[in-house]
Amino acid sequence: MEKKRPQWGSKIGFILAAAGSAVGLGNIWKFPGRAFEGGGGSFLLIYLLIVLFLGAPLMLTELSVGRASQTNIVGTFRRLGHRRFSWVGLIGIGGAFVITCYYCHVGGWVLRYVLGYATEAPKIYADSIDYFYNMLGYHGEGATIFPWVAILFAAIFMTLNAVIIIRGVESGIEKFNKIGMPALFLLLLILLVRAVTLDGSQAGLHYMVSLDWSKVSFDTFLAALGQAFYSLSIGVSIMITYGSYLPRTENIARNTAVVCAMDTLVAILAGFIIVPAVFATLGEQQIGKGGGFAFVSLAKVFEQMPGGTFFGVVFYLLLLFAALSSCMSLVESIVAFLTEHFSWQRKGTTISVCAVMFCIGCLYTCSQAAYPIKGVWFDAANGITFPAFCDFMEFLTDRIMIPVCALGCCIFVGWVWKPEKAIAEIEQNGIRFGLARTYSILVKYVAPLAILTILVMSFATGSTLS
Ligand code: PHE
Repeated sequence: MEKKRPQWGSKIGFILAAAGSAVGLGNIWKFPGRAFEGGGGSFLLIYLLIVLFLGAPLMLTELSVGRASQTNIVGTFRRLGHRRFSWVGLIGIGGAFVITCYYCHVGGWVLRYVLGYATEAPKIYADSIDYFYNMLGYHGEGATIFPWVAILFAAIFMTLNAVIIIRGVESGIEKFNKIGMPALFLLLLILLVRAVTLDGSQAGLHYMVSLDWSKVSFDTFLAALGQAFYSLSIGVSIMITYGSYLPRTENIARNTAVVCAMDTLVAILAGFIIVPAVFATLGEQQIGKGGGFAFVSLAKVFEQMPGGTFFGVVFYLLLLFAALSSCMSLVESIVAFLTEHFSWQRKGTTISVCAVMFCIGCLYTCSQAAYPIKGVWFDAANGITFPAFCDFMEFLTDRIMIPVCALGCCIFVGWVWKPEKAIAEIEQNGIRFGLARTYSILVKYVAPLAILTILVMSFATGSTLS
């Protein structure tokens, strides 16, 4: 006999958990860099359109599939009578696995910065680029050492995660997010004011609102698509898992709108803080890799505001909690799948899976600056290339696994299970879904065609990022 599955205690409980999963490092560490690479305003516009027309319908799709089946991601398809779609779930789990490998490392960097601002802020202010790369093993003048600082903090971050999951105190973190999330939002607003009034930031602001189509290609679309899905936590099975814990009385369409809006707002805010700050501190010429943006460029913002060091500690602390709640959702869905599918025991599974993911993630951190570890990539224009391993991991998830899993979900709901069933799932207990017709067109035609075209064309025309 099957155990009764747990359910969210309250409406706000679910929204907090879903928003906790969505709002994370992706919004603050990844988004600004992607927006910069994609041409600022033009990327922003593409991103918003993708969230509206592809991201939101997909989140709704995942939630309704999950709630209808009330089971884990791979079992979902079997339960709904279409076993041959289990591969979609497997890719989702695979994507969650790869993301967690590097997510826990970047989470570790955030932890390092909490401590850094608390104990040695002047050192960060003195040379923020050096500070960041030292953490990653850069030792000045081309010399490098093993990045033990970053790895140590990543190990602490991952341990924290495992302990929370084993003890089942996720709800504690979610409760924390009830205060932490609005606090993060408020702090971002304060930082926004400081960032856009820094000397030299106007050019950055201008960059973020002007449309520069010369930087836009199919690849920009793929980057925006991957980023949007990643940021909303879709295409990796999380929302199916979360949907399966939802009671039938919930209005999932409204919840989707709330979560998408919150997530997107935080990302845009972060973009409007960090890109102008980068222009003000590093100057357009010196802008290198997007990844360090959130760590390097914010130093100037904190340095030049009253109580900046205090705000620095609080900011990274809030980011840490945002990262923890996202990472938990990833680990939780992997563990839920492994324990339900193979009847493995929860504690041992969590520890082993976390240890393996942490170890693979070490390659991610090591390839940032310390060692020339490479991945392999292919597109028709550039042929086979060997990007840094860290980029390779992100490419793999954002540009292949997430879009393919999302595409699988659309095809499943649009053509096999049928949108009518999803709509019936949404419209229960007298709930009316006013956009039902639009939704069915989006999930049946628009989303699969758009995702497929972007995927194929990006690989055919070449990646500008590799
Ligand atoms: N959405 C999270 C973020 O923006 C990352 C994440 C991706 C979490 C996929 C769960 C699943 O940081």
